[in-house]
Amino acid sequence: MSDLPLPVFPPGFTWGVSTASYQIEGAVAEGGRGTSVWDTFAHTPGRTKDGDTGDVACDHYHRYPEDVRLMADLGVGAYRFSVAWPRVQPTGGGKANADGLDFYDRLVDALAARGISPLVTLFHWDLPQPLEDAGGWLNRDTAARFAEYADLVAERLKDRVGLWITLNEPVIVTSLGYVLGVHAPGRAGAENALPSVHHQLLAHGLATAAIRRHSAAPVAIANNYTPAWAVGPDGRPESATDDDRAAAQLYDLFHNRLFTDPLLDGRYPDGVEAFGPADGLVLDGDLEVISQPLDALGVNYYNPTAVRTPTGDLPFDIARLEGYERTGFDWPVVPGGLRETLVDLLHQRYAGLPPVWITESGCAYPRATDDPERIAYLDSHVRAVHEAIAAGVDVRGYCVWSLLDNFEWAEGYSQRFGLVDVDFDTLERTPRASFHWYRDLIR
Ligand code: NOJ
Repeated sequence: MSDLPLPVFPPGFTWGVSTASYQIEGAVAEGGRGTSVWDTFAHTPGRTKDGDTGDVACDHYHRYPEDVRLMADLGVGAYRFSVAWPRVQPTGGGKANADGLDFYDRLVDALAARGISPLVTLFHWDLPQPLEDAGGWLNRDTAARFAEYADLVAERLKDRVGLWITLNEPVIVTSLGYVLGVHAPGRAGAENALPSVHHQLLAHGLATAAIRRHSAAPVAIANNYTPAWAVGPDGRPESATDDDRAAAQLYDLFHNRLFTDPLLDGRYPDGVEAFGPADGLVLDGDLEVISQPLDALGVNYYNPTAVRTPTGDLPFDIARLEGYERTGFDWPVVPGGLRETLVDLLHQRYAGLPPVWITESGCAYPRATDDPERIAYLDSHVRAVHEAIAAGVDVRGYCVWSLLDNFEWAEGYSQRFGLVDVDFDTLERTPRASFHWYRDLIR
């Protein structure tokens, strides 16, 4: 870890932490909540590690006052959480379930009492199951349903929200949920790619308009970004061939540009046909809805992706990037990839790039209260953000993923991302060394 003092961030820069509803709330059968695709998926044998589910998770639904106190101790200025759609609309449509909205109302009030700004994500993957049964994100109608749901939440929380985030990582929903089938809803098929992309982007656009009818707070989307690095057979960029580089370009198009060009440039990138036929998908006016001005862009960054020329059905192979330290999740630690994302993939590409928030940055390591690796990881990534700011990128905030150890999707509880350790038997919370490090940084 660098011995240099941490650089000074611009005045008003906000430090925060992030979570998501299904990963922390538990209480899946309380308060009138309906079933989400993640309930169904996690309860399907063989889908998650050790059969773990979010039934109890961190029990945040009941313990949120304690979690808000932890955040107050930490001194964060912002808390990014998500609203569970099936708490607000148990069947994915119709009028709001009062208990569901009441829960988020109480949470927002508790945050306000501590001076913590709520950054509210409307969709962090827990789609109401009845909507999936009707086709999920392959069905254009889901976009319209999402706008109705957004309207209900915005009408209730209005201007008590610091930042609205419509969707979280639509690329992961598309790739893991609808193409590879290793996340909920577990559908597999290359032909699902473009419909799930377009309907999510349309949902973002329609929801943005709905939110703005009730709230003057800024509206964003949180995308996952990854620099696509061509590598050769040894997993190193130096041995990449032209074919590997062409595959990496296509991967960049899929992972990064497909979810950003339509938002910021109002068009799909050339080459989108590589991911299937788009006939009949994009209707007149859709791209205007999708590209209405964004107030901010959320960036979730974890690592670059090593890409090789394809050997199978997909237009690229994903490889293991060699030459870097790795997290407990076996992900390479590459802080320079965050600077590259902000500067090369965003600032240099998009003339109309709005202010950026790092909506997620963090790492999993084996369970320990003393976690120097996490401190080193965060330290280096915070410095990378500062370098991007120095290079001219307007970055407004940084949120650590995550406040708490939580349900890491298909990995269940095996991957611990928390600044705070959670004992999943007793649900006791214990701040780690990284919690104290982050508190000092914020101070
Ligand atoms: C991104 C996702 O938004 C979040 O839900 C997940 O836990 C982290 N990445 C870590 O994989």
